[in-house]
Amino acid sequence: MEDNKTMTGATEAGTSGAEVGAVGLDIGTSRIVMAGGPNGHRAKSQLNAFVGVPYSKMTESILQQNKMVYHRDGKELFVFGNDSERFASFFNAVPRRPMQHGVLNPQEPMGQQIIQAIIETVVPKSRSNELLCFSVPGKGEGADTNLVYHEAVLKNFLSTLGYESKAINEGLAVVFAELQNENFTGIGISCGGGMCNVCVAFLSVPMLTFSIPLGGDYIDSSVASVVDEPLTRVRLIKEESLDLSRQPKDKISSALHIYYEEVINTLVDKLREEFENSRHLPKLDRAIPVILSGGTAKPRGFLQKFEAAIKSGGFPIQISDVRLASDPLTATARGCFIAAMSEVR
Ligand SMILES: Nc1ncnc2c1ncn2[C@@H]1O[C@H](COP(=O)(O)OP(=O)(O)O)[C@@H](O)[C@H]1O
Ligand SMILES: [Mg+2]
Repeated sequence: MEDNKTMTGATEAGTSGAEVGAVGLDIGTSRIVMAGGPNGHRAKSQLNAFVGVPYSKMTESILQQNKMVYHRDGKELFVFGNDSERFASFFNAVPRRPMQHGVLNPQEPMGQQIIQAIIETVVPKSRSNELLCFSVPGKGEGADTNLVYHEAVLKNFLSTLGYESKAINEGLAVVFAELQNENFTGIGISCGGGMCNVCVAFLSVPMLTFSIPLGGDYIDSSVASVVDEPLTRVRLIKEESLDLSRQPKDKISSALHIYYEEVINTLVDKLREEFENSRHLPKLDRAIPVILSGGTAKPRGFLQKFEAAIKSGGFPIQISDVRLASDPLTATARGCFIAAMSEVR
């Protein structure tokens, strides 16, 4: 559904450099999103997931007839990207993930091969060592020493596709995408599947970055376990009908409210704590904005719940306003694209 979506922010930033072909790539736990490239600055996205089935000629020809993207590895066939969801529901299987909590999943032996295949479907062919900026999480529980490995493996792979690449913090990418008019000063937050990422930036410089290992996946699995419902059903209800601004009316939505509140409170408490412990922050003479993005920030009422958490219990710095990114699912990719453009111009 998000494929070929026209990108407003990225289009503006990219017009003068259309021939340059810088690329922004959001490598998220749930989805991989590309913005920019030489052909018209559109966003392209694929689910960062796959399903494996035993190889047979019959299955392969069915995949071909249905135009599904797949990868063959010896005795197995892997359907990956957006098709993995439909395929998993045929087989009543839960898709596997190349990444976990923002980095390559060490428990997934097929992870690297599949993530590479997915990246190849969204990234255009590089003509001459073009610059690609890709998102990486900030340090936190779940993403720490393995961040170095994650970044190096991706850089290596991107170079085989002909790109010079640069890693950029996901929260900072959100600041780049949405805070041009504020001189890239403010707090960028991306609430994804595997985690939430935060960056406090002053004049485009990241002063404080961190991540928490909670996000949409945590909400889905916690709710599924307390109400004893299949994970996929919980996720679909969450994505299609959750309204955090209204009183929940059934067991599943009550549980969704409870775990959403936990994620928001953990995020705001951690932000408070990081501000209080940080000695390097410049003195602020004015209030700064907060931008919320990522799939987990999409339900109606998320913004109001976040604002309420900031207000209750006070906050160490002044916040001017809390806003939702113009397109929460592509903000990170657009920000990576803007970062890449600014370096090649
Ligand atoms: N409309 C929606 N409402 C609630 N959650 C959503 C919605 N759309 C996507 N999500 C959730 O957002 C998460 C993925 O967000 P995304 O920003 O793509 O993540 P990542 O950075 O992990 O790749 C998943 O948990 C998914 O269920
Ligand atoms: Mg993300």
